[in-house]
Amino acid sequence: MVYHIPALLDESIEWLRVLPDGVYVDVTFGGGGHSAEILRRLKKGRLIAFDQDEDVKMNIPDDNKFLFIEQNFRFLKNNLLYHGIKDIDGLIADLGVSFHQFDEPARGFAFRHNAPLDMRMNKSAAITAASVIESFDEASLSDIFFNYGELVNSRRIARQIVKARKEKPLLTTEDLVSAVRGVVPRGQENKFYAKLFQALRIQVNHEMEFLKEMLIQALDLLKSGGRLVIITYHSLEDRLVKNFMRSGNFEGLEEKDFYGNIQTPFRVLTKKGITPGEEEIKNNNRARSARLRVAEKI
Ligand SMILES: C[S@@+](CC[C@H](N)C(=O)[O-])C[C@H]1O[C@@H](n2cnc3c(N)ncnc32)[C@H](O)[C@@H]1O
Repeated sequence: MVYHIPALLDESIEWLRVLPDGVYVDVTFGGGGHSAEILRRLKKGRLIAFDQDEDVKMNIPDDNKFLFIEQNFRFLKNNLLYHGIKDIDGLIADLGVSFHQFDEPARGFAFRHNAPLDMRMNKSAAITAASVIESFDEASLSDIFFNYGELVNSRRIARQIVKARKEKPLLTTEDLVSAVRGVVPRGQENKFYAKLFQALRIQVNHEMEFLKEMLIQALDLLKSGGRLVIITYHSLEDRLVKNFMRSGNFEGLEEKDFYGNIQTPFRVLTKKGITPGEEEIKNNNRARSARLRVAEKI
C-alpha cells in the first residue's frame, strides 16, 4: 500500500525556491514526497525533517544531506539549535494526517473502520480520542465539535455522547458512531462523521496550538528572503496561516507605523492561496481540500 501521495508537490517545491546550498526544513516528513524533491535540488545544502509518527522512519532516504528528527514540530527551534542551525532558507509544512495514518485501521482516524478510538499521530502520547470522549465535560465536547468540526448541532452531539458514556464507555470508532447516530442529518452521514472525526483528531493532537507554536518559531528562524510554504486542509488552519502571513499574528490585525504603512514581517506571495487543479484531484481525490500559501520573510 502506498504510504502517501503528496499534494501540490510541483507548486509547493517551486514556491520554496530551493537554493542548492541552502538549509531547509520539512516539518511534516510523512512519506517523504516533498523532502525527496527538495533533496533533488540540493548540492551542498541540508534538509532537516520532522515527524512525530515513528512509522515514517521506513521512508528515510539514504542521503548525507538529510537529517530526520522524530519530534513534534512544536520543538522546531530547540532541535535546530541543538544541531547548530540558527537560521534557515525555507520551511515547508504539509499539515494533517498521511494516507498511511488514515488507512491503517488500528490508528482509529477513520470512521469507516472499526478500531480503538485512538487518533494519536504520536503513538506514545498520553491522550487518545477515547480519553477525550470519556473525560471531557459536555460543554468542552460541544466546543470541540463546534470549533474544530464546524458542526452546528454540537450541543446535541455532546449531549448524546454524555448520555451514551453513562451506559458504557465509548472505546471504539463504532461505539462513537452509534452513540451519535440519532443526531446525524439525514443524507449527510459521511460529511457529518468526517467532521466529527476531524474535530476529535485536532483536539487529540493539539493541532491548532502546535501549528501556532511552530509558525512563531519559523518566523524567528527564517532568513530575510527565506520562504514559508504551508499546505492546509481545512478552513480553520487556513485562516490561521493566512492571518499569520499577512500580519505576523493569528488574528490578522494589521499594525501600522507612524506614516500609516502596514508593519508585517512577511511579503505574501500567493494572495488567495493555490488549490489543486482538476487533473490532480482526478488522480488524488484526497488532495481536493488542500490549499497552499507562501510568504517570504522581509
Ligand atoms: C500530510 S502528511 C505529510 C506528507 C508528506 N508531505 C509527504 O510528501 O509524504 C502529514 C505528516 O505530518 C505529521 N505531523 C502532523 N503534525 C505534526 C506535528 N505537530 N509534529 C510533527 N509531525 C507532525 C504527521 O504525522 C504526518 O506524517
